[in-house]
Amino acid sequence: MNVPRRFLVVAAVVALATMPVAQWSHAARPKPRPSLSAEERDAHIATLRQQYAQERQQWPAPDVDEDIQWVELGPIPKIPHPKENPGTKEKIALGKMLFFEPRLSGSGQIACASCHEPDMYWSDGRAVSFGHNRTPLTRNAPSALHAGLRSSLFWDGRVSSLEQQAHDVLMNVDEMRSSEEIIANNLSKLPEYGERFEAVFGDSKPTIERVTQAIAAFERTLKGGRSRFDYFLNGKTKALTDEELAGLHLFRTTARCINCHHGPLMTDDKFHNIGLSNYGRKFEDLGRYLITNDPADVGSFRTPSLRNITATAPYMHNGMFTLDELLTLYNAGMRNLRPRKDQVDDPLFPTTTSILKPLHLNEQDFVDLKAFLHALSEPPRRILPPKLPAFGD
Ligand code: HEC
Ligand code: HEC
Repeated sequence: MNVPRRFLVVAAVVALATMPVAQWSHAARPKPRPSLSAEERDAHIATLRQQYAQERQQWPAPDVDEDIQWVELGPIPKIPHPKENPGTKEKIALGKMLFFEPRLSGSGQIACASCHEPDMYWSDGRAVSFGHNRTPLTRNAPSALHAGLRSSLFWDGRVSSLEQQAHDVLMNVDEMRSSEEIIANNLSKLPEYGERFEAVFGDSKPTIERVTQAIAAFERTLKGGRSRFDYFLNGKTKALTDEELAGLHLFRTTARCINCHHGPLMTDDKFHNIGLSNYGRKFEDLGRYLITNDPADVGSFRTPSLRNITATAPYMHNGMFTLDELLTLYNAGMRNLRPRKDQVDDPLFPTTTSILKPLHLNEQDFVDLKAFLHALSEPPRRILPPKLPAFGD
């Protein structure tokens, strides 16, 4: 994106603040619910401590719409390796090297790790990533952590395996701009790879299929689970502060987040239009519709995982939001654009999902909800990049 992010954010906030209420289906600032007195708050926290000290099955019932099949929040499961691509130790080590290897790209300059930096929680900290020749892409890079547990990948869910995902980004002219020849030529010049491919695959040929298999096997080892929320889930009931605990309860009840952000990764792996398509405007992104051509999918994006969420700002498919902005929007029930005159009969005009409603959160609720989101982030872990073979080794 060639407009500075700060300008965009200011512009977005100004646009929201100045947007006539008629453009919204709901009032932009719903009346906050009454706040609790200090005594009421103490009693509320004491009750939550008791309720959430029980097994997860006994936790208070969530505020979930009737037709939604939700799964309770929980510890992150093991990431399985599929039968077609077993994760042997040697393959995972090779995959790690290839994940950091810029010589897989057409320019010789971009590795997977360029946009999925271990130091940045396997994302890149940017609104949108830079691709080939430092050209900005249109979407924000999701973390590669836990990607092996998702049933579909990318914001629009266009692929369903890590192998296919790696293949797509290697071949994408805007991203790694590679080809089978480039990969074969570059890796063949590095004898260490020949030896490693032979040990893993039986001969030394660095085909793109093998490259993507090794990278995918490595990605399936990218698993977190060291956040304070994880310790809480494992029975350390004191791991969450009062605010974080109140935030967990809000997340599951009054704030209704669990309608879509549920299960161990806090995602239903489904697609929803939460009102961010910019339909018919600058930065328009039709999301899932681009894959399915189903008008019901215009502006739908896959629900992101919220694991390590506070470490991977900025947010949403376009990377245009801070956490505060996003919570303000959710509290308003998100926006539901009214069609302009010329859009009234447009069959593609998107409707924001009815799951979102004004939440009437008060100031303390915002503090609690944010505190809980922070408790989902684990302390940074130092990952040393592997030593890559030098030419002529
Ligand atoms: C130029 C930056 C860039 C490079 C290089 C890059 N990615 Fe990505 N990655 C992205 C962006 C941006 C997305 C989201 C794109 C979208 O959804 O349309 C993404 C999505 C993904 C996802 C999907 C995650 C999810 O939750 O859906 C995985 C996994 C992934 N990349 C792994 C890789 C691997 C493996 C490589 C190297 C072969 C790689 N990426 C190279 C920017 C990059
Ligand atoms: C209707 C389903 C739904 C509900 C309910 C919902 N979300 Fe989301 N959430 C999504 C989708 C879909 C996206 C991605 C939208 C996009 O990028 O256009 C998202 C994005 C996010 C993101 C940004 C993640 C990232 O990596 O960029 C955060 C944070 C978030 N939601 C938190 C919440 C919180 C907190 C609540 C409750 C107040 C909530 N969500 C309620 C579906 C939902």
